[in-house]
Amino acid sequence: MHFQNTLTTALLFLASMGSRTFAAPHHKHRHTPKAVYFMTNTSPNNAIIPIPVSSNGTLHAPGPAVLTGGHGSRGVVAATNRTAGPDALFSQGAIRVVDNYLFAVNAGSNTLSLFQIDPSNPTHLTLLGAPVSTYGEFPVSVAYSRSLRLACVANAGRANSVACFEVSADGVLKNVGVKGLGLAQTTPPRGPPSTVSDILFVGEEGDQRLVVTIKGVRTGAMRSFPCARGNCDLERETATAPMGAGALFGISPIRSDTIVVADPSVGAATIRFQQGPMSTISTTITNITGQVATCWSAYSSDTRTVFVTDAAVNRIVEINYSGKVGTIVELKNGNAGNTDVVAADGGWLYALSARIGGAAVVVVDVETMREVQTLRVPEAGVESMGMQVWPAQSVGF
Ligand SMILES: *[C@@H]1O[C@H](CO)[C@@H](O)[C@H](O)[C@H]1NC(C)=O
Ligand SMILES: *[C@@H]1O[C@H](CO)[C@@H](O)[C@H](O)[C@H]1NC(C)=O
Ligand SMILES: *[C@@H]1O[C@H](CO)[C@@H](O)[C@H](O)[C@H]1NC(C)=O
Ligand SMILES: *[C@@H]1O[C@H](CO)[C@@H](O)[C@H](O)[C@H]1NC(C)=O
Repeated sequence: MHFQNTLTTALLFLASMGSRTFAAPHHKHRHTPKAVYFMTNTSPNNAIIPIPVSSNGTLHAPGPAVLTGGHGSRGVVAATNRTAGPDALFSQGAIRVVDNYLFAVNAGSNTLSLFQIDPSNPTHLTLLGAPVSTYGEFPVSVAYSRSLRLACVANAGRANSVACFEVSADGVLKNVGVKGLGLAQTTPPRGPPSTVSDILFVGEEGDQRLVVTIKGVRTGAMRSFPCARGNCDLERETATAPMGAGALFGISPIRSDTIVVADPSVGAATIRFQQGPMSTISTTITNITGQVATCWSAYSSDTRTVFVTDAAVNRIVEINYSGKVGTIVELKNGNAGNTDVVAADGGWLYALSARIGGAAVVVVDVETMREVQTLRVPEAGVESMGMQVWPAQSVGF
């Protein structure tokens, strides 16, 4: 499967088509995901909006909202003292889908919810037990490792921390570690500067690290923790400030040893981990001309490139492994910009555009680099966060 993809990509690269900067993927029989999800992040009563996907990748009307059992919240924009939104949580990864699990953070009630996704009807979500405490305040992002059976949450409030949970076979969450991040913050946090951005497991099975990004060099922009045998060693923290990066945000692995991180101060940073301890890294900065707030990223295994979104510029920008800008998709839907974004097998991107008066999900076809749909979801608002897809993309490097 992976070999075949590589071969197809290689052949197409030789064929080099259209006005694309990088090679386009090509699918004889395209996969489509079966559902996409985002979170209303409302208070009270946070909820997941499940949206069925049709066989051509476009979205049907959303299914009924599913309560998380917790409450959403909104940060405070330090420069204006106003309630934050879009990007109410200053984060990527407020919900995460892996296998048939959907995790969601409840920033207003300091809890983590876990749902089971029904594979025969993936808009049908079943809450597994009551939401559990995140052992901190204002959780903004969650990661899950299938091989470790471990879920870890980043708390961004006054009590900012990383907290990890064993996930039992029947979906019971048991806390197995908490580590403070040492940020001088409040609940709700004042940002975006100096707030937690994203949490993700990176690396190959058996050699995984838990990576947390924070906006600001002085705050130790990237923290990482080694993981093995079902847990991460939260006491062995490495703090690094990659050269040239100013505000590390959404993380996407692009190789087993390399991540692309969106950075609203420049565009993006491609960070390569050297063998051995995480403290040795090399960084390539991507200056994206005209960018304002490039915060979210998604790796597409169809193009083997990363796509980043900007909250204030309505386009999607492709970045390759060398940190070069590829195709730029200028969106014509009249939205101000996009927040979280996810890639799906078959060459699809789904981006959230949260705004006052309604959220929208934008569908982009990576094969043609065209915007194919903008689905308005008026029942969700400017505080909406997160964007995920089922089945989650199968990433193989
Ligand atoms: C995709 O399918 C839907 C119905 O399933 C249809 O309404 C729509 O026109 C199709 N769009 C494209 C671009 O083929
Ligand atoms: C925001 O509020 C804080 C605390 O009330 C105050 O010290 C600060 O001056 C305010 N900033 C702005 C930009 O209004
Ligand atoms: C990016 O842009 C900044 C200022 O606009 C400049 O100082 C820096 O050298 C540029 N970096 C690269 C890698 O082009
Ligand atoms: C990235 O794009 C640049 C410019 O098109 C190209 O020279 C480089 O080989 C590409 N890198 C990869 C890894 O594809």
